[in-house]
Amino acid sequence: MCGIVGYCGDRAAAGVLVEGLKRMEYRGYDSSGISVGYDNRLTIIKKKGKISNLQSAVPDDMTGSYGIGHTRWATHGEVNDLNAHPHSDSTGKITIVHNGIIENYISLRKKLENEGVEFKTETDSEVIAHLISKFYEGDLEKAVKSALTHIEGTYGIVAIHADEPCKMIGARNGSPLVLGIGRGEMFLASDVTAMMAYTKQVVYMEDGDVVVVDKDSFRTTDIRDNERNKEISTVGWDIDEIEKEGFPTFMEKEIFEQPLSVQRGMKGRLDLDQGTAKLGGLNMTNRELRAVSRVIILAAGTSYYAAMTCAYMLERVARIPAGAELSSEVRYKNPIVDPGTLYFVVSQSGETADSLYAMRELQRKGAKVLGICNVVGSTIPRESDGGVYIHSGPEIAVASTKAFTSQLTAMYLFSLIMARMRDMSIAEGKAIVDAMISIPDQIQEGLKQNMYIKSIAEKYYKCRSFFFLGRGLTYPIALEGALKLKEISYIHAEGYSAGELKHGPIALINEETPSVFLVPDDDLREKIISNMKEVKARKGPVIAVAVSGDTEIAEIADDVIYVPKAHELMYPFLMVVMLQLFAYHTALLLDRNVDQPRNLAKSVTVE
Ligand code: F6R
Repeated sequence: MCGIVGYCGDRAAAGVLVEGLKRMEYRGYDSSGISVGYDNRLTIIKKKGKISNLQSAVPDDMTGSYGIGHTRWATHGEVNDLNAHPHSDSTGKITIVHNGIIENYISLRKKLENEGVEFKTETDSEVIAHLISKFYEGDLEKAVKSALTHIEGTYGIVAIHADEPCKMIGARNGSPLVLGIGRGEMFLASDVTAMMAYTKQVVYMEDGDVVVVDKDSFRTTDIRDNERNKEISTVGWDIDEIEKEGFPTFMEKEIFEQPLSVQRGMKGRLDLDQGTAKLGGLNMTNRELRAVSRVIILAAGTSYYAAMTCAYMLERVARIPAGAELSSEVRYKNPIVDPGTLYFVVSQSGETADSLYAMRELQRKGAKVLGICNVVGSTIPRESDGGVYIHSGPEIAVASTKAFTSQLTAMYLFSLIMARMRDMSIAEGKAIVDAMISIPDQIQEGLKQNMYIKSIAEKYYKCRSFFFLGRGLTYPIALEGALKLKEISYIHAEGYSAGELKHGPIALINEETPSVFLVPDDDLREKIISNMKEVKARKGPVIAVAVSGDTEIAEIADDVIYVPKAHELMYPFLMVVMLQLFAYHTALLLDRNVDQPRNLAKSVTVE
């Protein structure tokens, strides 16, 4: 979703800003722009489409050592050069970039228009520039603060003024904003990736913060001028983690990284002797954990399918009633918070608006909410009552892959802890620990199927519709397989519980609609085989993902992708990787931009 970058220092700002915007391309956008200050003037350049369009419009020798930049993902107003950010006031002296949504912009705009202000764009954001201008009396900080008292909605904002060179004012309410501290230079951005080439020293802004930045210092207050003290953190990963490192796409790199990322998520957290796990950040005593009578896991998209898998796992091994719920539903259904229930929010980015607001609603009603997140310092982990980082490393491709298996890893560890506190014996616990330790190697083994999966994709990529079917623990994996295919290939795909097929969807089965069946060697295998036969009887092509050595499946299915034999609870990890590769190759054959699929954004910070 929209990205912000701001710079002041001694470098040529235009280059730093464009490079920062490119680093945030992965978030999804439809236009971009910069505003650079030099000689008491601000120059704005903005372009619809890819950042390369902007780059070609920016002169190589553009002078000016401070400025702001933005990638826009349209919400208010069509995608065109004019609606792209930065926006300026009528004098052209003030420019701003904004992420979020100004909810009262219509009334503010009308009021300003009545006062004679002429608006140039259809956006909600432009109103901010004019409001700041209205309150400006020689002090940008004061004017921004006055403007903010009139604004309702969410924002991450950076503003600059032509008469106050090399100064940026940033403000945050609901949209991420991070300050980067360099030597004699400072950055403001919505995402640390924008500044990672220059500094790893950062300060995460919180809602209500206003930060005043020049090239050597910063000061943070609230909008009423009360000082807010900030901690400086060091980003725990390196710039090469956001490079492709020889892979043609980020998505392929991230799929192939999974043996490592899963291993990282388990590191130091498994207790081999006691057949259990340790998760330091839960902030709960054993007594409190034992008193939990139900677990509800909230999430959106891919993270929701991880949540569903983990709810199955918790019920299965820990015998605790558990369920997954969509964040976007929870927020508005006036959730009933029961004191015995422990809530989790699962979010790769830690910034998804639906999940964040659902969490706040639950907390308001007294719930304890733990976060399972990837991005360190993001809003959900900071506002949750505890939680676990999944440590999958930066995920750049818009379609989530390695974060999914890392989310499973964290939640499996939690399930194991809960199970061992209840009925699970030490021997059973040890068997699960052993099984988890084997996952990275088993994923590695599964990845050897890459070229074979490509050959299967070559056979089916022209089909217009697919089914993905699983049962029990692999039902959410089928849903995730369908989501992955539709997101990056734009082929229609439906995920279903295989048992549900006969209750309606089977009407759609014909020679041209392949079904991908997930067939682990567990107690549901026979049931799934029956479902496969129902599809074959209606001439539907069948692709099965089955367990190595299961030759019977090859007699029924048209094509079989085998995963290594594993503990029956571990197949979600192994099978989802096969589906990621299938979606990936199908999308490439259709010439899709797999890293930045159309209409999608990486971090969905609006509702
Ligand atoms: C799918 C995908 C999205 C996200 C969803 C939640 O590939 O990336 O469905 O999973 O938007 O995002 P997070 O996990 O950041 O809350």
